[in-house]
Amino acid sequence: MNDGDGTLAAQDRGRRFGPLGTALVIIPTYNEAENIKSIVGRVRRAVPEAHVLVADDNSPDGTGKLADELAAEDDHVQVLHRKGKEGLGAAYLAGFRWGLEHGYGVLVEMDADGSHQPEELPRLLTALKGADLVLGSRWVPGGRVVNWPRSREFLSRGGSTYSRLMLDVPIRDVTGGYRAFRRETLEGLGLDEVASQGYCFQVDLARRAVKAGYHVVEVPITFVEREHGDSKMSRDIVVEALWRVTSWGVGERLTKIARRPGRR
Ligand code: GDD
Ligand code: MN
Repeated sequence: MNDGDGTLAAQDRGRRFGPLGTALVIIPTYNEAENIKSIVGRVRRAVPEAHVLVADDNSPDGTGKLADELAAEDDHVQVLHRKGKEGLGAAYLAGFRWGLEHGYGVLVEMDADGSHQPEELPRLLTALKGADLVLGSRWVPGGRVVNWPRSREFLSRGGSTYSRLMLDVPIRDVTGGYRAFRRETLEGLGLDEVASQGYCFQVDLARRAVKAGYHVVEVPITFVEREHGDSKMSRDIVVEALWRVTSWGVGERLTKIARRPGRR
């Protein structure tokens, strides 16, 4: 079981979990003009020592310009302007590279729409003191979702369960997007090989972390559905997730069979 493998590998590495460096909260945005000011302000108040990087895909609604205004008045806020909409995965990869280049010790993923409450970030960071990666989790005891339509909850729970079984990763909320990584963890995940574009990017990173033997901890969060703007979830995103997760799972099984020693 990967459960055991993961724990063992983490112990093998003799992990000591050194002190946490400065955190960079990466907020990917596409048409979040109604949310950007509020979320950046909440992060700054909840964890004043953290820095914020808004990774905007040239939002037609002017989110990038609003983010520039926030950056102009606060030296803890930066903006990464990207050419156009290339998906959540690509925006995070660019944000991670930027953060690693600039020497941050902790890289945080957070949605712009308020679903990931900045007030819960201190709990994630505390958990990261004894982990390589912390996942904010809706589907562990104490985790919840507020105001989600049944259909969306069904999709998320179903996606998480399918991924967990298919990929053999002992994580309840594999698709969630509220996370804190130590920089060393990101450096060890092989980000250059990540091809996932949409929300399956989250599954991809979780799977890589478990397979690499990192100590992954889930912390319960309350996910609050957005009040302003629209979700970017689409049929294409679901289709990409389904085929990638399935092909990873099938690939792993074939590899295991190929490696199996002879019958006697
Ligand atoms: N830069 C950029 N480019 N940002 C994007 C893109 C993109 O192509 N697509 C989405 N985003 C940003 C949104 O602006 C928002 O800040 C965040 O990514 C999440 O997008 P939502 O559209 O609000 O996601 P959701 O609420 O439907 O999905 C939530 O659940 C998913 C499944 O569990 C999120 O928590 C996802 O991270 C999660 O994978
Ligand atoms: Mn959302």
